[in-house]
Amino acid sequence: MTKKRIVVLTGAGVSAESGISTFRDSGGLWEKYDIMEVATHEAWVRNQDLVMEFYNQRRKQLYEVEPNAAHHALVKLEEKYDVHIITQNVDDLHERAGSKKVMHLHGELKKVRSSIDENLVYDLDGWELKKGDKCEKGSQLRPHIVWFGEPVPMIPEAAQLSSTADIYMIIGTSLNVYPAAGLVGYTPPGCPVYLIDPAEVPVSHIPGVKVIREKAGKGTAELVEKLLKEA
Ligand code: APR
Repeated sequence: MTKKRIVVLTGAGVSAESGISTFRDSGGLWEKYDIMEVATHEAWVRNQDLVMEFYNQRRKQLYEVEPNAAHHALVKLEEKYDVHIITQNVDDLHERAGSKKVMHLHGELKKVRSSIDENLVYDLDGWELKKGDKCEKGSQLRPHIVWFGEPVPMIPEAAQLSSTADIYMIIGTSLNVYPAAGLVGYTPPGCPVYLIDPAEVPVSHIPGVKVIREKAGKGTAELVEKLLKEA
């Protein structure tokens, strides 16, 4: 029998219990840093050192943290479902936990790319990207991150994937950032949608959504147990 497909959209909250800061919670990254100064192409042109340092610090931290119960529960879900994760996160904690199909919407911290040819993407050795690190065409390497104002190349594929879901899960995202926040709109009519987040998230655009007001670790583990029993 073919397995039912579960598509999971994750955001910063799924990695919060691993010790990675979210963006918009109190104490979150966008309280400490100005988005326009570190996460736009204009910032990169204006102050490469600052942008590089911001992502170097994020990357360094990533080497010090581990996947948590939420990442592990999603791996377990693969025992009985065809699980596809669409993550807004640039960390690699889903992969390190063992999830097989992970799509990164907003890039990946451990990768860097050419600043003149977006198809030249490289794994960075270690945590530090330095001024003078160049691509094979001789241009400075930049973080492989989708900055504010830049197109999100994976969106058509993510929308297509969402349209094939039998069950949809949303974990740990404030649903503030489009187009990611709109992906749930591509789910087929009647597709059950679960949303796990300890805070109130705007859900008026998601008819019939089942909201689970829990942290990702507990909420995901419990929902996964339930879905495995129902499979
Ligand atoms: N478990 C689950 N959710 C949590 C937890 C937790 N332990 N802790 C916090 N959250 C929730 C918050 O309540 C919030 O709804 O995680 C969400 C984090 O929201 P944001 O900080 O806005 O992160 P996200 O939605 O992933 O941001 C989207 O914005 O700046 C960008 O590119 C960046 O991919 C990111 C995008």
